[in-house]
Amino acid sequence: MSNALKEYLIFCQNRVERALENRLPSENVLPKKLHEAMRYCVLDGGKRMRPMLTYCTGKTLGLAPEGLDGAACAVELIHVYSLIHDDLPAMDDDDLRRGKATCHIAFDEATAILTGDALQALAFKLLADDPTLKTDAEGRLKMIQCLAKASGSQGMVGGQAIDLESVGKKLTVPELENMHIHKTGALIRASVNMATLAKQGLDSKTADSLDHYAKCIGLSFQVKDDILDEESDTATLGKTQGKDKDNDKPTYPALLGMAGAKQKAQELHQLAIDSLSVFGSEADLLRDLSLYIIQRDH
Ligand code: IPE
Ligand code: IPE
Ligand code: MG
Ligand code: MG
Ligand code: MG
Repeated sequence: MSNALKEYLIFCQNRVERALENRLPSENVLPKKLHEAMRYCVLDGGKRMRPMLTYCTGKTLGLAPEGLDGAACAVELIHVYSLIHDDLPAMDDDDLRRGKATCHIAFDEATAILTGDALQALAFKLLADDPTLKTDAEGRLKMIQCLAKASGSQGMVGGQAIDLESVGKKLTVPELENMHIHKTGALIRASVNMATLAKQGLDSKTADSLDHYAKCIGLSFQVKDDILDEESDTATLGKTQGKDKDNDKPTYPALLGMAGAKQKAQELHQLAIDSLSVFGSEADLLRDLSLYIIQRDH
């Protein structure tokens, strides 16, 4: 990882941690167990790639991070909700997440379902009324629309439905790509587009370039996740290695072989870089981030 990216990633991680901490209800507020579970799952964990993308896209467009906290928190909250539900026994049945017991293990299944539900509602509340979000009412509406589409049946939840339907089946490459674009790509795309929506008067060519970049890295992110599930180890990942094979999930390495999956990730990275050709050095962090996504070890 470039030094510039490392520095900015740490800055974003600290920034979003504080912002989330301030926006989550205290565990002393009733219902205490639910609020404790929300804080347990959201705080102090994860790479924070989606908030990083929102801040980084904003920086490329000259937007200060102060005006993006609400949006960065909203995408992370949706992401954490998706992880909590993804880990449930009815879905991937995982007991380790971000190096800790998953929500339904640390608490119970009903609490895990409700925690996800509550995080999702909080995400949209922030877009509606977070005072730091520097955008007018129309901008907020567009952000709500963007995150809702990315989260719902034509976004992440739709992708998760396809994922569960596909267990034990041999998908074609376009079918697998469609699943990944929805279950993971949609929210990553929204993380970038939250920042483009916050930029007043942005021309459509610039917005389209960033959207195309986001589509490429959204897919490469899940291709790499599939590769890591096979190649990495539980301690590094903070989640149980080898679960995709155990659960008979269709993945890129399963379909294309490990070399083919790595080549696909590399191609997507190149496409992401090409999408940023309208920018100069102001997009260097986004370029570095695309490379980090396919080179990361967890
Ligand atoms: C894991 O996402 C689930 C996918 C959508 C691939 P991350 O790899 O971003 O998980 P955290 O947030 O760092 O824990
Ligand atoms: C999850 O994909 C995508 C989500 C919407 C959470 P995975 O099931 O591969 O994510 P991990 O590997 O459990 O983090
Ligand atoms: Mg899953
Ligand atoms: Mg999973
Ligand atoms: Mg995975």
